[in-house]
Amino acid sequence: MNTTIDLHNLPQHVAVIMDGNGRWAKKQGLMRVRGHEKGAQAVRDTVETCAELGIKNLTLYAFSTENWKRPKLEVDTLMKLLVSSLRKELPTLQKNNISLKAVGSLQLLPISAKKQLDEVIEATSHNSRMNLTLALSYGSREELIAVIKKVASKVKTNEIDVEDIDQDTINNLLYTNYMPDVDLLIRTSGEQRISNFLLWQIAYAELYFTEVLWPDFRKEHLIEAIENYQNRERRFGKTSEQL
Ligand code: FPP
Repeated sequence: MNTTIDLHNLPQHVAVIMDGNGRWAKKQGLMRVRGHEKGAQAVRDTVETCAELGIKNLTLYAFSTENWKRPKLEVDTLMKLLVSSLRKELPTLQKNNISLKAVGSLQLLPISAKKQLDEVIEATSHNSRMNLTLALSYGSREELIAVIKKVASKVKTNEIDVEDIDQDTINNLLYTNYMPDVDLLIRTSGEQRISNFLLWQIAYAELYFTEVLWPDFRKEHLIEAIENYQNRERRFGKTSEQL
């Protein structure tokens, strides 16, 4: 790939809030669900680019806990799209050595979606080039509440001492325990919000907002985001001189 990206300074973990499918469809005079279908193509492009560049972890916010409140037709279409995309993309995931993972309240997914998801997760579990994580029925506060409950029960059974609770205690109990923190968080469509996504994991992430609507998001936009990330100085609380 011909870019000015410094391959030695790649974000280890890129997370994306894929927003603007509905607005994209409206602009074209189409039903909202058509925007999601087109969004699936942008997912494909983004996964491919990240794998080619050598990014190790890509996490996509595909469906939030709040998205269950959308009209039934839209929810059903999104779930069907998930199943068909997973089925269609399995050979590509295998060919490119990509491991599919999922985070969220997965037990709330329709049985067919859960089954297809489990199948692809299992089939790709030994792949090692990149983790592609789908956040599905995901809410960060719900994730943190589950962690707090687990910590409380470990304290109750004397498995850990309150004084020993540290950042690693939490990291190890999060859904995302197999990945490093997010380095770069991208949100499309001009909205500048986090929307209950990976609140703990983005503590030191660089945030990148673009006006591009998700269905229009292509390789060049991702590359622009990574170039922008590479031009920032990440200080993690220190001064420039200390780095
Ligand atoms: C946000 O746009 C997008 C979603 C809620 C769903 C994301 C789903 C996809 C990109 C489909 C394919 C995904 C997979 C994993 C196969 P919006 O509907 O909130 O847009 P709006 O803000 O313009 O209404």
